[in-house]
Amino acid sequence: MTEHAIHISYQEYESIEELNPEDRELAAEAVQAMQSAYAPYSHFHVGAAVRLSNGIIVRGSNQENAAFPSGLCAERTAMFAASAQYPDADMLSIAIAGGPEGLLDRVPATPCGACRQVMAQYQVKSGKPMSILMVASGQVLKFEKVDDILPLIFKSI
Ligand code: THU
Repeated sequence: MTEHAIHISYQEYESIEELNPEDRELAAEAVQAMQSAYAPYSHFHVGAAVRLSNGIIVRGSNQENAAFPSGLCAERTAMFAASAQYPDADMLSIAIAGGPEGLLDRVPATPCGACRQVMAQYQVKSGKPMSILMVASGQVLKFEKVDDILPLIFKSI
């Protein structure tokens, strides 16, 4: 038996203003994207913005449905839209922002497991790290690659 430890590091910022200009722009896009959320059931609005290697930023927001599992998170809405429209571009970064009734929370909304798996797949596809920004009004967390929020990524097939 061999025991292993996985080390995860991330950066914590006090606000969006503290980010570098590129990340600040993406964070602001995610906050803007919260406005298009369709969340009549949870009333929790989530916005996401994906920066592509072609320079384009694609937004997404959570879209709920009366048949609950038919709805989709903001992150996957953004990533699937990006891949459908620009299949050859790499996803370099994704920002996520959320809060109840469309008001940005003080602490970050962290992506669900299914969204992390989808991020992992697009990172494997591009072969480049996809950074993740979790944006809130009193705190922003930055992870350099998907491995840092989903260790031991499934990529066997
Ligand atoms: N939601 C997201 O959009 N992203 C996540 O990573 C977690 C949750 C949405 C789904 C649902 O519309 C609402 O937030 C409450 O769970």
